[in-house]
Amino acid sequence: MNKRFYITTAIDYVNGQPHLGHAYEKIIADVIARARRSMGQEVFFLTGLDEHGQKVQRAAQAEKKNPQEYCDALAADWLAFAKKLELTNDDFVRTTDPRHKEFVQAILSKLNDAGHFYKATYMGFYSAKEETFLTEKDRLPDGKFDASYGDVVELKEDNYYFKLGAQQQWLIDYIEANPDFITPTYRRNEVLGFLKNNTLEDLCISRPLARLNWGIPIPFDPNFVTYVWFDALVNYISIAAAHGDETILSALGNSKFKTQNSKLDLWPADIHVIGKDILKFHAVYWPVMLKAMGLPLPKQILVHGWWQKDGAKISKSTGNVVDPIAVINEWGLDAFRFYVLRELDIGPDGNWTDAGFRSRYQAELANGLGNLVNRSLSMLKRYRNGIVPAKSNELSADAAKAADETRALFKQSQLQSALQSIWGLVNRANQYVDQTAPFKLAKDPAQAQRLDEVLYNLAEACRVLAVLLWPFLPETATKIYAQLGLTGSPDKLDAATWGGLPPGQVIGEPAPLFPRKEV
Ligand code: MSP
Repeated sequence: MNKRFYITTAIDYVNGQPHLGHAYEKIIADVIARARRSMGQEVFFLTGLDEHGQKVQRAAQAEKKNPQEYCDALAADWLAFAKKLELTNDDFVRTTDPRHKEFVQAILSKLNDAGHFYKATYMGFYSAKEETFLTEKDRLPDGKFDASYGDVVELKEDNYYFKLGAQQQWLIDYIEANPDFITPTYRRNEVLGFLKNNTLEDLCISRPLARLNWGIPIPFDPNFVTYVWFDALVNYISIAAAHGDETILSALGNSKFKTQNSKLDLWPADIHVIGKDILKFHAVYWPVMLKAMGLPLPKQILVHGWWQKDGAKISKSTGNVVDPIAVINEWGLDAFRFYVLRELDIGPDGNWTDAGFRSRYQAELANGLGNLVNRSLSMLKRYRNGIVPAKSNELSADAAKAADETRALFKQSQLQSALQSIWGLVNRANQYVDQTAPFKLAKDPAQAQRLDEVLYNLAEACRVLAVLLWPFLPETATKIYAQLGLTGSPDKLDAATWGGLPPGQVIGEPAPLFPRKEV
């Protein structure tokens, strides 16, 4: 059985509605998943929800609901959101799923039996908002804790701890020996800097029931629930185990989990897509947890930056938000998918402005791609009754360049660069229309053959573009194929080879892909 390309996103807290940041991350993962499938790989794409912990418990309390009901109601919205984004995820995890909870408990028992945990009394500061313990080192120069921690309280309580002391050096060595493990490089350097300049403190993996009851019970002590981050990280393997992944099931050595029907080969994950704020959990705690379980590490942690809007933090309380659903309803899903990936490379922070969105829509989608396809197909319809003429190769080198670059960039998950490369072909083809002036050729019967050549090159360039664009703009790519009169879907990158459009083919109805809007 083939190992699948296994890609995951962070699982989102269900304490509100999805926003731009959540949408961005899921679209990154979806485009990579589609790109890999387009290149012929079998893929498993996992996303979902992080439902336990204090954040969610508090949000439920604020609405006077019990946490499970609260999560169930919101989960429906998030699932609908995944559909709205046309995510091609193969499963959707909720950490309140029994298949996940039972797995977390099995892991906890196993690690406890192997002596990885100890119980101790903690005295110090705690941020409920971020669910983290804070130390004196976390104080700002003025003695206060950063406002992002919310109310910080002093407390004294017993908890279970995961020993991390002996783990630092192998992790440093691993990160140094595997340059792509944490991408981009500056995030990798950040983790290395942290590991080299700090001593890892043992990780608290429990919360006393008296303070928090919305969590997975610790199987060996009924007075505690599992720390939400330990629970959440495990989703990447609990769901793989639920699909019968042998690597995980045998590491767990628990026959209870060997009853699954499917047998997918998933672990190790190929890519965990996450935001920069949760890097330490994924690049430090998660590898240590995996090593303790006897499991290989994920191949890559791909770290994206954060969106702002109009230069300021996105925040519900200040009303500085972008509502992805409203944008999609107004401009179409593909315009949204295009903007977030074209505007922001995976890594740095980005800034959403409505003006920037509109300007890319007009320039690149409506006037660039949309206009190319519409005028190419309209001319073919008008001058040749919509019948594709004999093959011609004038743009074939340009198309091959875009296709080769796109393939190479897909393998590197360099989505912004891939779009730039694809737009190289869009611009070249638009320039070709201007240079060859088919509307003039059409007036001169002696130029009939030349017009045939030009029309073939344009129609075929549109077809190749549909194939290259499919991972990014699935609806648009499918429409281009339909307007070309092609059946099937432009979802295989091999089809980007020049000359795929058969002469004699009758095209469909040209229609604008990106209607111009009054700005
Ligand atoms: N539940 C944890 C993740 C557990 S993963 C095992 C969590 N949830 S979250 O809802 O707060 O964030 C989910 C993802 O959205 C994170 O990767 C985070 O970086 C990302 N983003 C949240 N706000 C964002 C922006 N403003 N911009 C881009 N991404 C942002 O953390």
